[in-house]
Amino acid sequence: MARSIDTLAVHAGEHREKAHDSLVTPLIMATAYPFVNTAELHAYFKGEHERGEEYGRYGNPTQEVAEKKLAALDGGEAALLTSTGMSAIVTTLLSILKPGVHVVITADSYRKTRVFVREFLAKFGIEHTACEPSLAGIQAAVTAKTRLIITESPTNPYLNCIDLTGLAAFAKANRIKTMVDATLATPYNLRPIEHGIDLVVHSATKYLGGHNDLLAGVVVGKAEMIQAIREHQGMFGALASPFTAYMLIRGLKTFAVRMERQNASGLRIARFLEAHPKVARVWYPGLESHPAHAIAKAQMRGFSSLISFAIKGGIEEGSKVIDACTIPYLAPSLGGPESLIEQPALMSYYDKSPEERARLGIREDLIRLSVGLESADDLIADLDQALNRI
Ligand SMILES: Cc1ncc(COP(=O)(O)O)c(C=O)c1O
Repeated sequence: MARSIDTLAVHAGEHREKAHDSLVTPLIMATAYPFVNTAELHAYFKGEHERGEEYGRYGNPTQEVAEKKLAALDGGEAALLTSTGMSAIVTTLLSILKPGVHVVITADSYRKTRVFVREFLAKFGIEHTACEPSLAGIQAAVTAKTRLIITESPTNPYLNCIDLTGLAAFAKANRIKTMVDATLATPYNLRPIEHGIDLVVHSATKYLGGHNDLLAGVVVGKAEMIQAIREHQGMFGALASPFTAYMLIRGLKTFAVRMERQNASGLRIARFLEAHPKVARVWYPGLESHPAHAIAKAQMRGFSSLISFAIKGGIEEGSKVIDACTIPYLAPSLGGPESLIEQPALMSYYDKSPEERARLGIREDLIRLSVGLESADDLIADLDQALNRI
């Protein structure tokens, strides 16, 4: 019987019987895993004897459990845990691409992913086109050399959503692989593999870890592709530590409960903001006013808790609102219990001039809010008093 994501978050990947009769998956810190004798070593390397890895850079029992749980949540055959979301993206791209190929990336993808594609992959003779973030934009950007389409759904900060079923069908018809960064959606709300997408990546630093206290990433897909990426990881060494894997397993126990709450608070607060006289515009895929609402509604179960909104004012008024908030912290990141608030113009794009920011579509009046696990009533009261300062 297929189990719900709530049950998978608690039990998937975990051995029923664990070392020392422990109820929870133990944290195994060892860097090496000795053989009983040389005969066992021979049998292991010939593939005749199943046992754990021999060296920590190739894997770890705690990591393995976290990976099986993450694969189950996304409905994929296998998962690879990495040190950060960026290392999941970088390790995947470096292992599946080769010189001479062309990549399409949607232009509002995570900034560091775009920079990696533009500046780093170019050094290895991998060309790319950054296209308008829509299925039509992607289709127009594909060339005869395109081997991979990289996109996100929803995107940051405008929460744009791509029709993943349409994308997967188009890519398959053209023998192109697809990779979707679904960090903002999480597998609770969106399972790209069910839509036919080849690889899903997440920054597990966000909702999956869920407590603002670990950095990790994951890539999920067909076992054969994940194995190829794993072999590169064994070389690059960008692993999550066993302790991170332990913390991630622990954080995932409450994943479904957290997401249900964050989905509900996100929608309530987005509606509150949309009705506020000091707010000019709100971007949240669960709102009927969002340009991608129809796509989001068709493919997502809920809309997570990242909200972007433009205030009636500019960068200074935005700072005034943020400084007047008493619950959300002024910080980057998202997905944890503590609500976080920031101005993209002064956080991820601080190094850019107002003209460059305008060219990149980063508005000066924009505020990004990651709704945490506090009471939505308290957050609404806090945002209301802060907005009324301007
Ligand atoms: C959509 C998205 N992808 C990838 C990343 C990178 O994740 P990490 O910070 O874990 O490397 C982030 C981080 O903010 C993100 O928001």
